[in-house]
Amino acid sequence: WCKGAIFDLDGVIVDTARYHYLAWRRLAEELGFEFTPEHNERLKGVSRMRSLEILLEVGGISVSPEEKQQLAEKKNHWYVEYISALTPDALLPGAREFLTWLRERGVKIALGSASKNAPLILDRLGITGLFDAVVDGTMVEKAKPDPEVFLKGAGLMDVDPRECVVFEDAVAGIEAARRGGMKAVGVGDPEVLAEADWVVRSLAECLPTGGASEGSSEEK
Ligand code: G6P
Ligand code: MG
Repeated sequence: WCKGAIFDLDGVIVDTARYHYLAWRRLAEELGFEFTPEHNERLKGVSRMRSLEILLEVGGISVSPEEKQQLAEKKNHWYVEYISALTPDALLPGAREFLTWLRERGVKIALGSASKNAPLILDRLGITGLFDAVVDGTMVEKAKPDPEVFLKGAGLMDVDPRECVVFEDAVAGIEAARRGGMKAVGVGDPEVLAEADWVVRSLAECLPTGGASEGSSEEK
Protein backbone atom coordinates (compact mmCIF):
# COMPACT_ATOMS: atom_id res chain seq x y z
CA TRP A 1 0.00 0.00 0.00
CA CYS A 2 2.98 2.32 0.27
CA LYS A 3 3.93 3.50 -3.22
CA GLY A 4 5.56 6.75 -2.24
CA ALA A 5 7.69 7.80 0.72
CA ILE A 6 8.11 11.48 1.50
CA PHE A 7 10.91 12.54 3.78
CA ASP A 8 11.41 15.69 5.75
CA LEU A 9 15.10 16.65 5.75
CA ASP A 10 16.20 18.43 8.92
CA GLY A 11 16.08 16.03 11.85
CA VAL A 12 14.98 13.01 9.80
CA ILE A 13 17.68 12.43 7.23
CA VAL A 14 20.37 14.71 8.53
CA ASP A 15 21.38 16.06 11.87
CA THR A 16 20.86 19.72 10.97
CA ALA A 17 18.00 20.38 13.41
CA ARG A 18 20.57 21.18 16.10
CA TYR A 19 22.30 23.72 13.85
CA HIS A 20 18.97 25.45 13.26
CA TYR A 21 18.55 25.52 17.04
CA LEU A 22 22.08 26.81 17.67
CA ALA A 23 21.59 29.63 15.19
CA TRP A 24 18.19 30.62 16.62
CA ARG A 25 19.52 30.47 20.17
CA ARG A 26 22.43 32.68 19.19
CA LEU A 27 20.02 35.21 17.74
CA ALA A 28 17.87 35.13 20.89
CA GLU A 29 20.97 35.61 23.04
CA GLU A 30 21.92 38.63 20.98
CA LEU A 31 18.39 39.99 21.47
CA GLY A 32 18.72 39.40 25.21
CA PHE A 33 16.57 36.40 26.03
CA GLU A 34 16.89 32.67 26.49
CA PHE A 35 15.60 30.28 23.87
CA THR A 36 15.19 26.74 25.17
CA PRO A 37 14.95 23.38 23.35
CA GLU A 38 11.26 23.33 24.36
CA HIS A 39 10.65 26.66 22.60
CA ASN A 40 12.55 25.28 19.66
CA GLU A 41 10.09 22.40 19.14
CA ARG A 42 7.65 24.99 17.79
CA LEU A 43 10.14 25.98 15.09
CA LYS A 44 10.72 22.55 13.64
CA GLY A 45 9.31 22.22 10.16
CA VAL A 46 8.29 25.86 10.17
CA SER A 47 9.54 28.35 7.54
CA ARG A 48 12.41 30.72 8.32
CA MET A 49 10.20 33.82 8.61
CA ARG A 50 7.50 32.13 10.65
CA SER A 51 10.20 30.68 12.92
CA LEU A 52 11.56 34.17 13.51
CA GLU A 53 8.08 35.45 14.32
CA ILE A 54 7.62 32.70 16.91
CA LEU A 55 11.05 33.42 18.38
CA LEU A 56 10.27 37.14 18.67
CA GLU A 57 6.95 36.24 20.29
CA VAL A 58 8.80 34.13 22.87
CA GLY A 59 11.13 37.05 23.58
CA GLY A 60 8.24 39.52 23.68
CA ILE A 61 9.98 41.65 21.05
CA SER A 62 8.47 43.48 18.12
CA VAL A 63 10.54 44.79 15.23
CA SER A 64 9.94 46.49 11.88
CA PRO A 65 9.59 44.40 8.70
CA GLU A 66 13.06 45.58 7.59
CA GLU A 67 14.65 44.50 10.87
CA LYS A 68 12.85 41.18 10.60
CA GLN A 69 14.39 40.63 7.20
CA GLN A 70 17.83 41.43 8.60
CA LEU A 71 17.39 39.12 11.59
CA ALA A 72 16.28 36.25 9.33
CA GLU A 73 19.31 36.82 7.11
CA LYS A 74 21.61 36.90 10.08
CA LYS A 75 20.27 33.58 11.38
CA ASN A 76 20.59 32.01 7.95
CA HIS A 77 24.14 33.28 7.61
CA TRP A 78 25.11 31.55 10.86
CA TYR A 79 23.19 28.43 9.91
CA VAL A 80 24.88 28.18 6.51
CA GLU A 81 28.20 28.69 8.25
CA TYR A 82 27.45 25.79 10.61
CA ILE A 83 26.39 23.47 7.80
CA SER A 84 29.17 24.45 5.41
CA ALA A 85 31.27 21.69 6.89
CA LEU A 86 28.59 19.00 6.46
CA THR A 87 29.79 15.66 5.16
CA PRO A 88 27.97 12.35 4.66
CA ASP A 89 28.86 11.67 8.32
CA ALA A 90 25.97 13.95 9.27
CA LEU A 91 23.44 11.50 7.81
CA LEU A 92 21.29 10.17 10.64
CA PRO A 93 21.42 6.43 11.49
CA GLY A 94 19.79 4.29 8.82
CA ALA A 95 18.91 7.18 6.49
CA ARG A 96 20.92 6.17 3.44
CA GLU A 97 20.25 2.47 4.06
CA PHE A 98 16.48 2.92 4.36
CA LEU A 99 16.22 5.14 1.26
CA THR A 100 18.20 2.57 -0.72
CA TRP A 101 16.09 -0.27 0.67
CA LEU A 102 12.87 1.48 -0.43
CA ARG A 103 14.23 2.24 -3.89
CA GLU A 104 15.18 -1.40 -4.38
CA ARG A 105 11.55 -2.26 -3.69
CA GLY A 106 10.21 0.19 -6.26
CA VAL A 107 8.90 2.75 -3.77
CA LYS A 108 9.15 6.29 -5.09
CA ILE A 109 10.94 8.78 -2.89
CA ALA A 110 10.42 12.51 -2.47
CA LEU A 111 11.85 15.17 -0.23
CA GLY A 112 9.32 17.50 1.42
CA SER A 113 11.25 20.17 3.28
CA ALA A 114 10.48 23.74 4.29
CA SER A 115 14.17 24.55 3.96
CA LYS A 116 15.46 26.78 1.19
CA ASN A 117 18.87 25.24 1.89
CA ALA A 118 17.64 21.70 1.14
CA PRO A 119 19.23 21.22 -2.31
CA LEU A 120 22.59 22.40 -0.96
CA ILE A 121 22.38 19.97 1.95
CA LEU A 122 21.41 16.97 -0.24
CA ASP A 123 24.34 17.81 -2.43
CA ARG A 124 26.76 17.97 0.50
CA LEU A 125 25.51 14.61 1.72
CA GLY A 126 25.81 13.08 -1.74
CA ILE A 127 22.25 11.71 -1.72
CA THR A 128 20.50 13.90 -4.34
CA GLY A 129 20.36 10.91 -6.68
CA LEU A 130 18.27 8.88 -4.23
CA PHE A 131 15.24 11.15 -4.72
CA ASP A 132 12.67 10.98 -7.52
CA ALA A 133 11.41 14.45 -6.56
CA VAL A 134 12.61 17.28 -4.35
CA VAL A 135 10.27 19.90 -2.92
CA ASP A 136 12.01 22.62 -0.91
CA GLY A 137 11.13 25.88 0.78
CA THR A 138 11.42 27.87 -2.44
CA MET A 139 8.61 25.86 -4.04
CA VAL A 140 5.77 26.25 -1.53
CA GLU A 141 3.49 29.09 -0.55
CA LYS A 142 2.04 27.62 2.61
CA ALA A 143 4.22 26.23 5.38
CA LYS A 144 3.57 23.05 7.37
CA PRO A 145 1.11 22.24 8.98
CA ASP A 146 -0.42 23.03 5.59
CA PRO A 147 -0.04 19.86 3.49
CA GLU A 148 1.12 21.74 0.36
CA VAL A 149 4.75 20.61 0.51
CA PHE A 150 3.79 16.91 0.76
CA LEU A 151 0.98 17.10 -1.79
CA LYS A 152 3.43 18.64 -4.22
CA GLY A 153 5.87 15.81 -3.53
CA ALA A 154 3.16 13.19 -4.14
CA GLY A 155 2.17 15.00 -7.35
CA LEU A 156 5.73 15.07 -8.66
CA MET A 157 6.11 11.34 -7.92
CA ASP A 158 2.71 10.76 -9.50
CA VAL A 159 1.51 8.80 -6.47
CA ASP A 160 -1.88 9.16 -4.78
CA PRO A 161 -1.39 10.89 -1.39
CA ARG A 162 -3.34 8.04 0.27
CA GLU A 163 -0.58 5.69 -0.85
CA CYS A 164 2.17 7.87 0.59
CA VAL A 165 3.93 7.68 3.95
CA VAL A 166 5.56 10.79 5.38
CA PHE A 167 8.59 10.66 7.70
CA GLU A 168 8.76 13.67 9.99
CA ASP A 169 10.40 14.90 13.20
CA ALA A 170 8.18 17.98 13.58
CA VAL A 171 4.74 18.23 15.15
CA ALA A 172 3.76 20.62 12.33
CA GLY A 173 4.94 18.06 9.78
CA ILE A 174 2.90 15.22 11.26
CA GLU A 175 -0.18 17.43 11.13
CA ALA A 176 0.61 18.38 7.52
CA ALA A 177 0.85 14.71 6.53
CA ARG A 178 -2.45 13.87 8.16
CA ARG A 179 -4.18 16.86 6.60
CA GLY A 180 -2.86 15.67 3.24
CA GLY A 181 -4.46 12.26 3.77
CA MET A 182 -1.13 10.50 4.21
CA LYS A 183 0.20 8.18 6.88
CA ALA A 184 2.76 9.73 9.19
CA VAL A 185 5.80 8.17 10.78
CA GLY A 186 7.24 10.31 13.54
CA VAL A 187 11.02 10.24 13.89
CA GLY A 188 11.99 11.18 17.42
CA ASP A 189 10.30 11.36 20.81
CA PRO A 190 6.98 9.43 21.02
CA GLU A 191 5.63 11.90 23.58
CA VAL A 192 6.24 14.90 21.34
CA LEU A 193 5.03 13.09 18.20
CA ALA A 194 1.93 11.49 19.72
CA GLU A 195 -0.21 12.37 16.67
CA ALA A 196 1.84 10.17 14.32
CA ASP A 197 0.61 6.74 13.16
CA TRP A 198 3.92 5.23 14.29
CA VAL A 199 6.98 6.64 15.97
CA VAL A 200 10.57 5.47 15.55
CA ARG A 201 13.73 6.82 17.14
CA SER A 202 15.55 6.79 13.83
CA LEU A 203 15.11 5.50 10.28
CA ALA A 204 17.36 2.57 11.21
CA GLU A 205 14.34 1.15 13.06
CA CYS A 206 12.40 1.06 9.79
CA LEU A 207 14.81 -1.43 8.26
CA PRO A 208 13.90 -5.13 8.58
CA THR A 209 16.94 -5.64 10.82
CA GLY A 210 15.81 -2.71 12.95
CA GLY A 211 19.27 -1.36 12.21
CA ALA A 212 20.69 -3.98 14.55
CA SER A 213 23.38 -5.11 12.16
CA GLU A 214 23.85 -1.78 10.41
CA GLY A 215 26.43 -0.63 12.89
CA SER A 216 24.88 2.81 12.75
CA SER A 217 21.84 2.54 14.95
CA GLU A 218 23.29 4.20 18.02
CA GLU A 219 21.72 7.53 18.94
CA LYS A 220 23.96 10.44 18.13
C1 G6P B 1 13.03 23.01 8.12
C2 G6P B 1 13.44 23.10 9.58
C3 G6P B 1 13.05 24.43 10.17
C4 G6P B 1 13.57 25.56 9.29
C5 G6P B 1 12.97 25.45 7.90
C6 G6P B 1 13.46 26.53 6.96
O1 G6P B 1 11.68 22.76 8.06
O2 G6P B 1 12.84 22.08 10.34
O3 G6P B 1 13.61 24.51 11.46
O4 G6P B 1 13.22 26.81 9.84
O5 G6P B 1 13.33 24.18 7.38
O6 G6P B 1 14.81 26.33 6.69
P1 G6P B 1 15.74 27.34 5.94
O7 G6P B 1 17.00 26.56 5.68
O8 G6P B 1 15.07 27.74 4.66
O9 G6P B 1 15.94 28.51 6.83
MG1 MG C 1 12.42 18.41 10.40
